[in-house]
Order: sequence, then C-alpha cells, then structure tokens
Amino acid sequence: FNDIWAITGIPVSTLDDHDQDYHITGSGGIALVASVGGEVKKQGRVKVGDLVTIYSGQNDILSPTVGLDPMFADFSIQGYQGPDGSHQQFMVAQVPQVHVKPQDASLEAAGSYVLNLGTIYRALFTTLRIEPGKTLFVEGAATGTGLEALKSARNNGLQVTGMVSNNDRAEYIRGLGATGVINRKDSRYANAFTKVPADPQQWAEWEGKGEAILADYRAQNNGKLADYVVSHAGELSFPRSFQMLEENGVLTFYGASSGYHFTFMGKKGMRSPQEMFEKGSLRAGEAVLIYYGVDTLEDGIVDAVGLEAIESAREMGARIVVATYTDAQKE
Ligand SMILES: NC(=O)c1ccc[n+]([C@@H]2O[C@H](COP(=O)([O-])OP(=O)(O)OC[C@H]3O[C@@H](n4cnc5c(N)ncnc54)[C@H](OP(=O)(O)O)[C@@H]3O)[C@@H](O)[C@H]2O)c1
Repeated sequence: FNDIWAITGIPVSTLDDHDQDYHITGSGGIALVASVGGEVKKQGRVKVGDLVTIYSGQNDILSPTVGLDPMFADFSIQGYQGPDGSHQQFMVAQVPQVHVKPQDASLEAAGSYVLNLGTIYRALFTTLRIEPGKTLFVEGAATGTGLEALKSARNNGLQVTGMVSNNDRAEYIRGLGATGVINRKDSRYANAFTKVPADPQQWAEWEGKGEAILADYRAQNNGKLADYVVSHAGELSFPRSFQMLEENGVLTFYGASSGYHFTFMGKKGMRSPQEMFEKGSLRAGEAVLIYYGVDTLEDGIVDAVGLEAIESAREMGARIVVATYTDAQKE
C-alpha cells in the first residue's frame, strides 16, 4: 500500500512531505549491514556483515518521550513519509530499526513481517488490550494485517470472525480457526457498504441495510455482537464495522484503504469527557483539540458537553485548542 500510494500520489503526494525532488519507496526489508556509526560500533549490538531485518518506523531517538511511546516522538515511516526507503542499494537506518533476522524465516518473510506485526501488536495489545474469551471482528481477515490480527487474537484465546470477499478466503480463514465469516460480497448485503448519509432522514434506512450483516454475525457468535473490532479498509467498511460493536465494545483502526471520510451512527450510552480522556491515556502537557458547538442550546452558543470537555482537559493539564463554529461561540 505504501508503495502504491507513494507512486500514485493518492491520497497525498509524498513529495509534499519532504523537500527532496525524488522519492525512493520501500518501507522495511532485509539488509546486509555495510557500515555503522561510531556509537553503534561502541554498543556492539550490530556490526558490519550482519544480515538484519529493518523496521520502517523512524523517530527522534534523542527525544525524552521516546521511551514512553516512540510513536509520540516525531514518528514517521521510512519510504513513505521520508524519501529514502528500502528500494535502493544502500539505505541509512537508525539503529533501533535494525533487528536480528529470525533464523527460521525466509528472506522474504524476514523482510516483511515487522510493520504488519507491529501494527497488529499495537492494535490488539496497546489499544484494545484484548482479553481471552472475548470476541473480535476484523476486516480483510485473509491478508496482510487482518490475517495477522486473526492469528494473534486466536493465539490469545479470542473467538474471531473475519470479513473477506470470497468463498476461498472464507475457507482459508476457517482453516486458521476463525469462528465466523462475513463475506462482504454476499448478495444479501448489496448496497450496505456505504458511508452513513448526511441527511438524518436516511439514517434509519441506512441502519436497516446493515441488519442482515449483524444477524449473520450474531448467528455465528451466540447471539451477540463483537467485543472488539479491528478496522482498516476505510470509509466504506468502517461504519458497518462500528455497527458490529456490542455494548461496551471497542474499535481500533489504522489505514483507510477505501477513503478517509469516516462516518458512523452513534450507539446508545454516554461517557463523560473525562472518562474519554482517561481512556485515551491523556497526560499533562499533551495537546487536545476540542470541537465546541457540535450540540448547543437553542441560543446556538452554549455547548454543555463542549464546556465540560474544556474543563476536564484543563484539569488534566492538557494543552487545549478549541475549534468553534461561530465567533459567538469563540467569545
Ligand atoms: N501492512 C501494514 O503494516 C500497515 C501498517 C499501517 C497501516 N496499514 C494500512 O492498513 C490497510 C490494510 O493494509 P494491509 O497491509 O493489511 O493490506 P492488504 O494485505 O491488501 O489487505 C487489505 C484487505 O482489505 C480488504 N478490503 C479491501 N477493500 C475493502 C473494502 N472496501 N471493504 C472491506 N474490506 C476491504 C481486502 O480483503 P477482502 O477482499 O478479502 O475483503 C484486502 O485483502 C491499508 O490501508 C494500509 O495502508 C498497513
């Protein structure tokens, strides 16, 4: 995906992200170490001649926040956000990107697993914090990250239902232990995979079009919807996957293959802004963007939840930016 998106310049041109007039694609790979810097030499973990696996995530390795979470320290993907990817003879890597090649993996496998598994590790264990005995629904379960999510969740004692687009893939994932399958090309789901319409008059009809999918999911999962959802296929699948959530269910997403305009229908229930900030692990000093004025009193100015969000974020020591819809709200 990174290569295709970088080459086509869709949805954004990678050349706008850096100031070079070339872009070499390739996010991660297998490499032979040709040269090392002085500090790397002193440390001794990596030496010239080593056959290594390269992870494509780069960051500001001297940042104080790097130990907390490397993704918060100017994180970027080499070969996509940065211009110097792995499809060249010599590439410069930061030493934390360099890992011992797993002995039992082929060169191809050793050069391609890290970003997939890193993404899935983060989705399942850092974000969802999956627990055995629960249920998970994952898009694109027969390939790439979806397949890794299926395997990892199964290995950790979850019951997994995967979405795929044909019967061969359905059989394949059943063979890997999927409890249920949703074939998104099933004729009964025709016209179901769309964004939620903007017009509220059409919301009930849109929800109704998902009933067959939900019924099929429930039939394969003891009558219940999903405790966890992993979504990555973008705007056409996200709203239905969100609809798949059981009460108190949690969804995580990365990627947006079919487009970035994410819509979803709310579910019953309410959480305070403070609970949501805690769920998002907000820490003092971190930045929060609050949209104020989403739901106001008749005066069009007072947004009670917006005010509570600002107050909670302030109490938690966040740096706050508020986006308002009108100047009166700003005042
Ligand atoms: N690979 C990584 O490490 C990584 C890391 C971060 C983000 N991402 C992003 O995550 C997304 C998936 O990456 P991947 O490597 O897993 O790709 P992949 O191996 O190509 O798998 C994606 C699968 O999604 C399904 N799909 C495609 N269009 C769909 C749609 N409209 N509705 C529902 N399902 C659809 C397809 O399966 P079926 O046809 O069987 O349904 C396809 O095989 C991409 O946007 C990618 O940029 C990937």
